[in-house]
Amino acid sequence: MRDILTLGIESSCDETSVSVVKNGREVLSNVINSQIPIHEKFGGVVPEIASRNHVEAISDVTTKALQEANVTFEDIDAICVTYGPGLVGALLVGVAYAKALSYALNKPLIATNHIEGHIAANYISFKELEPPFLCLIVSGGHTYLVHIKDYRNFEILGSTRDDAIGEAYDKVARVIGLEYPGGPKIDALAKEGQANIELPETHLENLDFSFSGIKTAVLNLHHKNPSLNKADLCASFEKATTDVLIDNTKKALDLINKDKNNEKIDKIVLAGGVSANSYIRKRFMELGKKENIRIYFPELKLCTDNAAMIASAGYFKFLDKEFASLDLNAIPNLKL
Ligand code: KG4
Ligand code: ZN
Repeated sequence: MRDILTLGIESSCDETSVSVVKNGREVLSNVINSQIPIHEKFGGVVPEIASRNHVEAISDVTTKALQEANVTFEDIDAICVTYGPGLVGALLVGVAYAKALSYALNKPLIATNHIEGHIAANYISFKELEPPFLCLIVSGGHTYLVHIKDYRNFEILGSTRDDAIGEAYDKVARVIGLEYPGGPKIDALAKEGQANIELPETHLENLDFSFSGIKTAVLNLHHKNPSLNKADLCASFEKATTDVLIDNTKKALDLINKDKNNEKIDKIVLAGGVSANSYIRKRFMELGKKENIRIYFPELKLCTDNAAMIASAGYFKFLDKEFASLDLNAIPNLKL
């Protein structure tokens, strides 16, 4: 079969990114224009500012992505764009740009779910990875446990009832005085502390998650006693949230493997920005060793938002010829 080149466009939050990917797995370019320095001073993403910066950046980022991949628009087989979930104004910039490209170049348009993109990041990092596997998606906006039965066939086993895990990380970080985005700052500071503060972990009956109890407990402890060691607080927060992640993932794995109708699963795949966390990675590696299962997480630069993962997820839709029409709209609360 001839090589398929997909162009990925990602603008769902504060990264304008465009990428060229070959056959869903090989990154030819992945240009990311991060707005973090712009939003840092506000302590979080300001949607209107994000949209305006996407408009300013998207054309140059695209040119750069083509140049780095050493291809022209003519070489591209399909334009894949994130149409949700995300900030509506930010998404619309990518969607409008992708539609214009699709129309002008007469190339198919592919609507890509941002969360599916996070999963696909692993297909880039691990060329041999194939479904079925269990996927834990931990990002700024989402926490999902998903049984990936095939490239396009997913079953959601659990999701968060309140805060996404990354949201809890960012909130805790902000309150204790760490800069946005807080996840990487907590990761670093926790390494200097001990997980010696007991926090109320919420382990639900089913496979859903709840992080607001842990988050609120940390915030209350800090407010009551601002001199409490922040590194210990971060380490304890990481431990409590990771205990819940591990517990549910293990339960999900047992549930899948108990069902005789399922193909046995021996792979756990982590995805999303929070899967960059070094403590979470360490704990999952330990779980893998104990259970004799292989643990996957994307290389660091593919954990957080980027367009290569969108071009990869789009490739699998391309194979199914699932094309979008030019009336495609952004869907801010799109589900998996
Ligand atoms: O996947 P992502 O880029 O955006 C969404 O789709 O939501 O995830 C961003 C989230 C932020 O909450 C950020 O604080 C968190 O990922 N994050 C981390 C780390 N690196 C990024 N959280 C914990 N430890 C990290 N090393
Ligand atoms: Zn994301």
